[in-house]
Order: sequence, then structure tokens, then C-alpha cells
Amino acid sequence: MQTAQIRQRFLDFFQEKGHEVRPSSSLVPGDDPTLLFTNAGMVQFKRVFLGQEKVSYDRAVTSQKCVRAGGKHNDLEEVGITTRHHTFFEMLGNFSFGDYFKKDAIAFAWELMTEVYGLEPDRFYATVHHSDDEAAELWASEAGLGADHIYRLGDKDNFWQMADTGPCGPCSELHYDLRDNPTPVTSTEEFVELNDAGIIVELWNLVFMQFERDASGELTPLPAASVDTGLGLERVAAVLQGADSNYHTDLFAPMLDRVAQIVGRDYDPDSEEGVSYRVLADHARAVAFLLADGVFPSNEGRGYVLRRILRRGVRHAWLLGRREPTLAGVVGG
Ligand code: ALA
Repeated sequence: MQTAQIRQRFLDFFQEKGHEVRPSSSLVPGDDPTLLFTNAGMVQFKRVFLGQEKVSYDRAVTSQKCVRAGGKHNDLEEVGITTRHHTFFEMLGNFSFGDYFKKDAIAFAWELMTEVYGLEPDRFYATVHHSDDEAAELWASEAGLGADHIYRLGDKDNFWQMADTGPCGPCSELHYDLRDNPTPVTSTEEFVELNDAGIIVELWNLVFMQFERDASGELTPLPAASVDTGLGLERVAAVLQGADSNYHTDLFAPMLDRVAQIVGRDYDPDSEEGVSYRVLADHARAVAFLLADGVFPSNEGRGYVLRRILRRGVRHAWLLGRREPTLAGVVGG
């Protein structure tokens, strides 16, 4: 399935379930000093979750442009090295503002994954916050996952917050086993090991938004229990296209081809140079979207993060032997 189709099916699926399709917001969060960049689909709805703003719908769905290259969620140094990290990426998300909660969030995710995208039910694992018996029970009753496909983890993995302050809550993640011949996972330790290695890959995070964290770290309940989810478009594309890396999907292939043309050598995914090809593809895309949303290189804040991405891109172009401007050619017409 082409990435454009994956995105569209997500939006259509949730629209049919009564969600309002909303556009992506800018990478620069409006009037929010707690965040450098929009780092998740829920950012444009922060005030709605907090009960500070009313909207005419209580369910929404988006495909949101995100950057995670500075601040709390920062993946910059992983890019190019792992198969699944990006500075810029798209997050597919469905949201409930005081409407449905855990049961429907889990049932929707399961239906989309297994019936619309046609992924294999036996390959899925769910993690839940260690205190969240309800979510664990729902993965069994709504998705039919066995006890050996449900693992309980702590705050680091299964409690999500957008920044040091703001809306937050326990979360439940849906993971997919990429092995050719999966053998049963028998312990939490084994699951974590396979997960850290990207062999069982995290696809979708379902956050059960229930609290606001203030500057002192104190949690107060939100006006209404809500849902915020994030499914990485690049990751689900890799799974659905049977690609061994997000970079080997139809999204990145044209940019890697471009790098190969510019450099004059074919892309070899397993070589050291392969890292630099992927960095150029990722960073050129991030820089293009940041410029388009009005961020310019500077010595501080957002502009400084952009400058760091540019510098890292230039360093990798240099490693490939380039001494001329390179990044623009990777995304330019
Ligand atoms: N906001 C959640 C995340 O980014 C869904 O993982």
C-alpha cells in the first residue's frame, strides 16, 4: 500500500467513526512557550484537552506534521543510524475530547490495523501502564490478545506528556513483530529487548489523557477523560510495504535516489555511507518543512535547532565528498 493511501485510509476510517477531519497545524506551535516545535498530533488541541477552549466536535482525526529535534522529545542523534527515527515525521492521530475513552480507542485501533490495513493479529503486542488493569483487560476482550501479548511497563514507557507541563496520562502502545518466523515472547525482559532492538516495533501510542501537570510536577485531573493517539506514518508504511526500514519505503526512495544522483554513487543501505544518505534524506525534508512554516536559522530557540539540523546535514554531505551546497537538491524540483 502506498503511503498516500495509508494516510487517506486512516482519515477515512475515523471520519466514518464520527471524527472531524482537521488539517495539520504548523510546525511552530501557536502561542505556546512550553514547546519548540509541534511534536505530536495533540499539540493543536492542547487547550481543548485542558478545557480552556471549546470546539464544535468532540472527535477529531489528523495527519500532523511533527518535528522532534529539540526539547523533551529529541531524536536528532538517532537519525540515519536506526531504521525508524526522523527529525520530521507525520503522526496520524484520532482524538476524543471527553467523548469515548479506553474501550473505543482500543477497539478502533484494532479494527483499523487488522481489518483495514490487514496486518496479522498474531504479530501484535500491547503494552500498558503497570497500574492500568482496565487497558490490559480491554486488549484481551476487544482485540483477543493473549496474556503473553500484553506487557506492563512503567512511567518511562507508558506515561505520556507533551512537555514538562501540560496534558498527560497513562498510555498503551501497540507493537508489531517484524520477525520472519516469530517465536512466542515469554517475559517482559524479552519483550523489552526485542522492542529496544526494533524487532518488535512500536507503531501506535494511545494516550488516555486524564491529568494536567503543572510546573511543580503536581497532577490535577482534566475536566474530562480524553483520548490522544499517535501512529507513526513512516513506521506503518514500512510495515505495510514489507520494508526493513522507514527509509526503504516509497516516501524516502525518491530522496535517496536524489542523493545517489548528486553524489554519483548508488545507495548501499548497509555501508557506513548509507547512514549519510539517510541523514541527508531526513534532514532535507525537515529543513524544507521548517522553512515553509517560517523557521529560519538563528542563534537561539527554534532557529538554532534548524541550524543544528542544517549543520548535521552539511557534515554528512561533506562525509560523502561533497563540498558544494547539497541539501536543497535532495528535495528541490
Ligand atoms: N501524543 C502521543 C505521542 O506523541 C500520542 O506519542
